[in-house]
Amino acid sequence: MGDHRVGLAPFEGRVDDRELPVEGTVPPWLDGRLLRNGPGRFHAGDREVNHWFDGFALLRAFDIDDGAVRYSARFLGSEAFEHASREGDLAFMEFGTNPDHGLLRRLYQVARGRFTDNASVTITRIGGEFAAVTETPRSVVFDPETLAARRTHTFADDLAVTWSLAHTHYDFDHEQAVGLGVDLGRESRYRVYCRPKGATRRAEIGSVAVDRPSYMHSFALTTDHVVLTEHPFDTTPLQMARGKPFVENFSWRPAAGTRFLVLDRETGALVAERRVDPFFTFHHANAFTDDGAVVIDLVAFDDASVVTDLYLDELRRPDARPHGGELRRYCVPLDGGPIERERLHAGPFEFPMVDYRRRAGRKHRYVWGAGSEADRPRGFLDCLRKVDTERGETAATWTDPDTFPGEPVFVGRPGRNAEDDGVLLSVALDAAAERSVLLVLDASDLTERARAPLPEVLPMGFHGQFFTGDGVPTPSMA
Ligand SMILES: [Fe+2]
Repeated sequence: MGDHRVGLAPFEGRVDDRELPVEGTVPPWLDGRLLRNGPGRFHAGDREVNHWFDGFALLRAFDIDDGAVRYSARFLGSEAFEHASREGDLAFMEFGTNPDHGLLRRLYQVARGRFTDNASVTITRIGGEFAAVTETPRSVVFDPETLAARRTHTFADDLAVTWSLAHTHYDFDHEQAVGLGVDLGRESRYRVYCRPKGATRRAEIGSVAVDRPSYMHSFALTTDHVVLTEHPFDTTPLQMARGKPFVENFSWRPAAGTRFLVLDRETGALVAERRVDPFFTFHHANAFTDDGAVVIDLVAFDDASVVTDLYLDELRRPDARPHGGELRRYCVPLDGGPIERERLHAGPFEFPMVDYRRRAGRKHRYVWGAGSEADRPRGFLDCLRKVDTERGETAATWTDPDTFPGEPVFVGRPGRNAEDDGVLLSVALDAAAERSVLLVLDASDLTERARAPLPEVLPMGFHGQFFTGDGVPTPSMA
């Protein structure tokens, strides 16, 4: 029997452009590079970090060309990683772990903007370059061919934010990224910004004052609106000043409920503010406007306990439960009418995905994601699903014994008409064989078109994007 815990073992060394065997047939039209990110090592010297999100970023690249697959993997050469490798301790406060140095030095670091650059969440493009990003203001620009770090990047603009979300959106119509930052201060604010393609400066679209900023991991975008899902897992400047690891400064206050804040993308004005029963979310699938309402599909958890469930001590339990929530739809009428809530999939469900290139901000029918099918599920999510939101049912499921698939990235076939005409790319852990495998599934029925086994395990990752030859991303996540 395979065990999910091999997906948390540290990766050693690096891999440069290794050809992988391919079983099955990769569609000939699939041509590009899947760049992925996620933690690859959970210690600095003898010091273990606490949380899954604290692991040092390991970049992974899969080049797909003419049916062949080549792969590379390399630790992100961040200041945080280089320091840890050299000194054997942590240089910065991480998501769930503090460095050994004292409170005053930690607070001094934060006051000076010396946040961690261990950018392990996903990949984006900044000013024409590739960058690994996390939720601090610091990202790491890297060479997309060699995966070597070029420099740590901080935006040199006027947008005042203390932290910003790793998940940004890309608007293909207006060729701009849209992002969200949190300005923590005497008067805290959520700041929505845009950044035109190729630009290195962000410009504010609008902002909302807030007493207790929420830990938001993603947000939603329609063609006309920005939608913030503000769950009551929040903090204050006073709490932040205690010097605890980042996430320990947040508390769950269910009485506050969860708020949808809807901003007009053109004017930045707050056009709706609606409260619903409390729930927590990491990921939105998509949002769109339909008949005067904003429709938001997201993965909802009853509370924020999933954050604590992702501490490494919990994940390393042999009976660890897979983490996922309910795929849920909210219809929020902009005229103030009653909010409707619909269960699209009972879960566990995570890494929700739509045909982002065509459907981002527009009405979609299908949501793909990772789920769990076993009677007594253990470890990570163990299947991939296609949910038909129109029929309210699971349209297809992929599963393989002792195999734990990561985020599925949808890549549409060029020239397609049908929304599900394309493939899903997912890096899965084959725990029985103790190796990872790149899966290429038919997105319409989730049949396996091809798989490329790796000679080793890649630790379970988070997010990535598929880049075609023209450098245009197919974002993996709304
Ligand atoms: Fe995420």
